[in-house]
Parts: sequence; structure tokens; C-alpha cells
Amino acid sequence: MCGIVGYCGPKKAADVLLEGLKRLEYRGYDSAGICVNNMGNLRTIKRTGKIKDLRNIVPVTFEGHTGIGHTRWATHGEVTDENAHPHSDDSEKIVLVHNGIIENYQTIKNKLIVEGHTFKSDTDSEVIAHLIASLYTGNLESAVKETVFLLKGTYGLAVMHKDIPDKIVGVRNGSPLVVGIGDSEMFLASDVTAIMAHTKQVIYLEDKELVVITPDSYKTFDFNEQELQKKVENIGWDLDQIEKDGYDYFMEKEIYEQPESILRAFVGRIDREGATGHLGGLNMTPAELINIKRIQIVAAGTSYYAGMVGAYLIESIARIPASTELASEVRYKNPVVQPDTLYFVVSQSGETADTLYAMKELQRKGARVLGVCNVVGSTIPRKSDGGVYIHSGPEIAVASTKAFTSQITVFYVLTLILARMRHLSFEEGIRIVSALESVPDKLREIFKDTNSIHDIAKRYSKYENFLFLGRGLNYSVALEGALKLKEISYIHAEGYSSAEIKHGPIALINENTPSLFLVPDDNLRDKVINNIKEVKARKGKVIAIAVKGDDEVAKIVDDVIWIPSADPLTYPYLMVVPLQLFAFYSAIELKRDVDQPRNLAKSVTVE
Ligand code: AGP
Repeated sequence: MCGIVGYCGPKKAADVLLEGLKRLEYRGYDSAGICVNNMGNLRTIKRTGKIKDLRNIVPVTFEGHTGIGHTRWATHGEVTDENAHPHSDDSEKIVLVHNGIIENYQTIKNKLIVEGHTFKSDTDSEVIAHLIASLYTGNLESAVKETVFLLKGTYGLAVMHKDIPDKIVGVRNGSPLVVGIGDSEMFLASDVTAIMAHTKQVIYLEDKELVVITPDSYKTFDFNEQELQKKVENIGWDLDQIEKDGYDYFMEKEIYEQPESILRAFVGRIDREGATGHLGGLNMTPAELINIKRIQIVAAGTSYYAGMVGAYLIESIARIPASTELASEVRYKNPVVQPDTLYFVVSQSGETADTLYAMKELQRKGARVLGVCNVVGSTIPRKSDGGVYIHSGPEIAVASTKAFTSQITVFYVLTLILARMRHLSFEEGIRIVSALESVPDKLREIFKDTNSIHDIAKRYSKYENFLFLGRGLNYSVALEGALKLKEISYIHAEGYSSAEIKHGPIALINENTPSLFLVPDDNLRDKVINNIKEVKARKGKVIAIAVKGDDEVAKIVDDVIWIPSADPLTYPYLMVVPLQLFAFYSAIELKRDVDQPRNLAKSVTVE
């Protein structure tokens, strides 16, 4: 998704901008550009393709100490050099980069065309540059402020004026923007990773806030031009944490990190003495928690599947009716909000537009909405009524892996708390605690031998369609496994409850459509085995993920990925990790861009 970097200071701006844009690559983009102001001489360079290609065409003479840069992920207008940012007005005095979508851009554009403006791109963003230029009377921040009153939609903007070589105006409404405070240098960025090599002191802008930066100063204002005193915060993550750590791919590194990241999600949150947990960030008293009659979890993509695991745990163990809904559907269905329902929004990035808007809609109706997020200081944690960080550390690969297992960990702890407040006995509580504590070592056991998963992925990567089948707690894991394979290998895969295949999908089964069955040794194992037999009877190839020693499964399937025997409650962890590896190895075999799959963005900040 689009990214913004801005710089004012003593360094060569082009270098800082290109480095910042490189750090934003993980968000996904299709084109990039920078503009620097060299003593009143604006120089812009932009093109489709990767940052390294842009870097190759930036001349060494590209001087200037103030500048803005952008990675674009096309929304309005095709992927072309002209549509890449930065954009400028006719006089080429105003130049800007924009994240978000301007809904009324066409109306404004038509009016400006009548007034004589000509446009070089098809973007909604260029319209903003023309509008600022038409309202500019010598004060850049005033022109920007007047402009945003005319815009409908979402924007994170960084704006420069040719005649003011050491100033950038930033403004936020619905698209994140953060100010970095350095030593005689200031930064702007849509995401802290772009600037954290230079400073850890940041200010997060809220919606309808504007900032003016120069090398030595920053001033923040609301849209009524009232100056604001904003809190300076310290970024907790190290840049080192973002490096690949010896692995070839971020996704690979993030898969193997899971024993530690899962631990971080529950450490300090378990109370063995009380066989329960603590989640301080919920901001709820025990009396409030006991009065909850229903829980609804709202999210998108992988976070939605993690939410499904959460809802299953809460309903089956804490005995509170719980369900999961797609964030994109919640906003527009005029949801019914009831006072005794507690809502959770789940989001790795904390910036997913669908989830954010669903949260706002629920809050508008009076709901109490808690966040389960990874990125500290992102919009959802700041705007929710409380919540829990999953502490995964930066997740760079577009395909989410460690965030999923940490999100479900938070739901295990939440389930424990809610269940122990109700009927769950001390002994049953301890069983959950022990099960959770055993997960990191069980995963390490899986990691000791991943060759068989690699080998199976290699042999099956020639197939074009897959079914992923699981039941109970592992039904959502099957959906997540199918999503993982689709998004990074581009192999078509559908996830179903294995009980559902007889209601339609079994028609797809033949020797060219393999099925991947999740077969834990739980109460549904025998039923899953029956489903495997139904597929085998139709000449379908079957891979099973099964528990070591389950000879009956080994006899009826074509290939098995073995996992260690464990408490059935923990199988979602032990099933999902081999599925992540299966997708990863399939993508490697097919020579896909594992960390940045086509058409996808890490953080989906448009609806
Ligand atoms: C996961 O692999 C996906 N790339 C995607 O489905 C993602 O989970 C979804 O966009 C939600 O993102 P979030 O967790 O940052 O809100």
C-alpha cells in the first residue's frame, strides 16, 4: 500500500528518501518517486517498478536538503510513470505525495479544468496539488488547510512549495502520518519503519491534524488552526529486528520465529496460581467482564481466521456465544449493537481500512470495541476502547504468519480469563495453561525436520487446484492454509470444513485436484477419516497433516506431514505452521516473489 517519506535537514534529502522508501517496500507498491528542493529548484523523478530501479536513475547531482518521496499502489489510474507520485500543479510550484482516496476529486477536477488547469495524470492526488496552488496566497499551511476543507475522502499528505526550500506541511485524515524528530532534522512518514534508522522520537498525528516541519522545528495544528501540544513517543522496535536474520526471505524468518513470538504473546499474562490470565489493556473490571453476554470478533484476511479460532475457543470453553464477521461487511450492514456484546477488532497492522471503518461504525453505535493488534501506536490501538498487543515484532512479509499464531494466543488467554470467571475449574484452567506453555517446544520439534514438507510441496507444486479440509478448531486453520497457498504461490486453493465437501466441493475431486486434510487426534478424527475415504474413493490425491503414530491415516493417504502428539486444544498451532511451510516451499518451487506477492499489499489502507 502507498507509503510517504519526507525529510528536512542537513543531509542529502534524496538519500534519506530512497532509504526510507526502501524500508516501506514491504507494504507493497507498483511505482515510486521523489522530489527534492534545492534552494528553490524543484527536481522530481518517478517511475513504475522497484526502488532499486528508481535509485539507478537518480543522478548524483540530485542535490537538496528538503524532499518528499512516495511508493504508490494504484487506485485511481493505471500503473504508469505519470500516475506515480510526487504530483505538482501547472506552475510546478506546489508538489505533494498523497496516501488515501479523494472521493470528490472528479468534481473538483472538472471545476479546475474550466478554470484553465491542465492535468498530467489520471490520479485523484494531482487534483489536490492544483487545488492548493489555486488557494495559495503566500502561506503554504493556510492553503493546505483551506484545501482539505474541500476534500472528501481519506488523505495523508506531504506538501512542499518551490519558494520555501526548507518546509514541509503534512496533514492526516484517515491515512496514517507520523513526525520524526531528529537532531536539527525532521521527518515525515506514513509508517515509522521509514524513519527509525534516523530517530526513535515520534509524534503520531491524529485525523484532522496538520504539521509544519522545518529542520529545527515542528508545529502541529488542528483544522481550526489551533496549535496542539502533542506527546512525543519513543519507538520500541529496533531496526535490527527488521532484518532477515540470516534467512533468505522475511516469510521464512517469521515462520521460524514463532516459538518466541508466541511466547511473547502470553508471557506475563498467565497466572498459574489462579489458573487464569491477565490482560490489563482490556480496561475492563471483572464486574464488567462477567456481564458480557456475547462476543463478536471483526477482522479481515488472516486476522479474520485467527478471530474464528478465537470465537470457537470462547464459545466452546468460556461458554459465551461468540462469532466472527468480515470487517468489510460489518460497516455497511447497519449492524445491531447490543449493550452486553463485547467487540474485538483484530489487525496485525492496526491500519486496515475495512477493519478501522467497521470499528468506527460500531463505536458510533455505542459499542465497546477492543483491539488485538501488533503495530504499536497504529490507528486501531489508538482509537479502540482498549485492547491487547500481540507483541509479534515487525511482520514484514506480506503473507501473515507469526501474527496469526500470536493473535490466537491472545484469544487463548482471553478464553481462559472469561472461562475461569464463570464455570471453568482450577484443574481445567491449569490444563489450558500447560497446553499453551507446551506450544513453543512442540513447534521446535516440527522445525527439526522440515525436509519432508519441502519434498511434498515440491512434488505437488505442479497442481493448479487444491482443497484444504479441517473441522472444529482446525476448520479456520484449513481456511488460513488455503489463503496462504493462494497468496504466495498463486495456486488456487479453497478451504472447507471436511464435512462440507459432500455438499458440493466433492464434485471437484479427481486425480488432478489434491486435498490436504488436517487430522488431529481429537473427537472429530474418525469423522475426518471418513471424509478422506470419500475423497480416495473418487481417485483424489490426499496429503494429511496427522499426529505421529497414526498408522491408520498413513495407510489411506498418499503423503503425510507428521506433527507431534499434543493437547488437542493446541493443534491449530501445530497444524498451521506446516501449512505455512507448505505454502512457502510451493512458492519457492514456483519461483514466486515470496515476500511481496503480486497485487498484494502488507497493509491494506483503502476500502
Ligand atoms: C495475510 O496473509 C494477508 N496478506 C491479509 O489477508 C491480511 O491478513 C489482511 O489484509 C488483514 O491485515 P491486518 O491483520 O493488518 O488487518
